[in-house]
Amino acid sequence: MADRTTERTALHEEAARGLADARRRTERLTDLDVAELTAQHSPLMSPLVWDLAHIGQQEDLWLLRGGNPLAQGRLSADVERLYDAFEHPRATRVHLPLLGADEARGYLADVRGRVLDGLDATPTTDGSELFAFSMVAQHEQQHVETMTATHQLRRGEPLLGHGAPLPAGRALPDDDSVLVGAGEFVLGVDGTDEPWSLDNERPAHVVDVPAFRIGRVPVTNAAWRRFVDAGGYDEPRWWSSRGWEHRVAAGLERPLFWDADGSRRRFGIVEEVPDDEPVQHVCFFEAEAYAAWAGARLPTEVEWEKACVWDPALDEGRGGRRRWPWGSADPSASLANLGGDALRPAPAGAYPAGASAYGAEQMIGDVWEWTSSGFEPWPGFTPMLYADYSAPFFGGDYRVMRGGSWAVGAPSLRPSFRNWDHPVRRQVFCGLRLAWDA
Ligand SMILES: [Fe+2]
Repeated sequence: MADRTTERTALHEEAARGLADARRRTERLTDLDVAELTAQHSPLMSPLVWDLAHIGQQEDLWLLRGGNPLAQGRLSADVERLYDAFEHPRATRVHLPLLGADEARGYLADVRGRVLDGLDATPTTDGSELFAFSMVAQHEQQHVETMTATHQLRRGEPLLGHGAPLPAGRALPDDDSVLVGAGEFVLGVDGTDEPWSLDNERPAHVVDVPAFRIGRVPVTNAAWRRFVDAGGYDEPRWWSSRGWEHRVAAGLERPLFWDADGSRRRFGIVEEVPDDEPVQHVCFFEAEAYAAWAGARLPTEVEWEKACVWDPALDEGRGGRRRWPWGSADPSASLANLGGDALRPAPAGAYPAGASAYGAEQMIGDVWEWTSSGFEPWPGFTPMLYADYSAPFFGGDYRVMRGGSWAVGAPSLRPSFRNWDHPVRRQVFCGLRLAWDA
């Protein structure tokens, strides 16, 4: 037994890399002066210094105490309670006696040191013993994306620059689509195939899907501007009744961060809206209205996943799942725009090598994509260690988003990954892809 505890496997390395990648990104977004860290940049978001210590608090809870909130953590119970996301709504967190920036950084470093010792001492056979380490790294990556959205909502001088270069796109017609033939496919994954998959992605199960067409690429800014110019925001017939009610009440006229003069604000920089980029910062109701105007609809999340991963040629023509749309290679800069450095989506058509078996492109990265689906458990759902991650949200007023955005870290994304939010939310890096009955 003794030698097993000292054996560091490839899964240990992967778990450690996941933790390190998340921390590198957290530090990049919080390397700011105290005023920026403690300000409430938007009522929709926490002060960055809250996210910072909350990241450490969750790591302390799940990896140093096995999820037992009654066990003594590295903080006093009173301080720890300030970082309970269920107890304190985001808009109120600025008024709490939060840890200062340096205290929070010291806390994170202390917890991480102990966690890495614990990782080395955890023997594993199939990765399941290391699941919590990845779960915590994925939690931190999710907060990195949230903190990125806080940066985008923040007013003032740019702090993050223009973003890293991206590959060029290629011209494609607005209605370019691919056919996904009718038939069964395997929806969702199991821990044996994807040891880091979260509870709501499991278990794998067979579903039958009628034939449909789906957009080759996400809807672009140029296409969205045609919708605006055609009066799409003024005609109730394109909107659901709830959507129209919201459009009127919220005064929606164009995507969030767009100005009437054709410019947009991106991380403090004002620039012309680029035609060929996938549109982002539209809510579900806007996405639904756009699709109706375009003579299409939103895909269901089941259709989305089939178009993304199913390969009808695998297993001697019986079909099978690819690990990623393009195959089994890990995501890279020539396959998908992930990891946050770009600070924007890549132009449509930028990743032909990342196409799925059906020919759909940019399903991973660039923008989250609204689907028409509510957030429900797959049959046979079992809550994971963090039992309140998914279960309290099933059946609520949420719509599922798929595919991840440019701001998502690759170690926290899979084609089976399910994100969800209220249908009115626009600060998320979310756009859409059209679908049609075939
Ligand atoms: Fe959290």
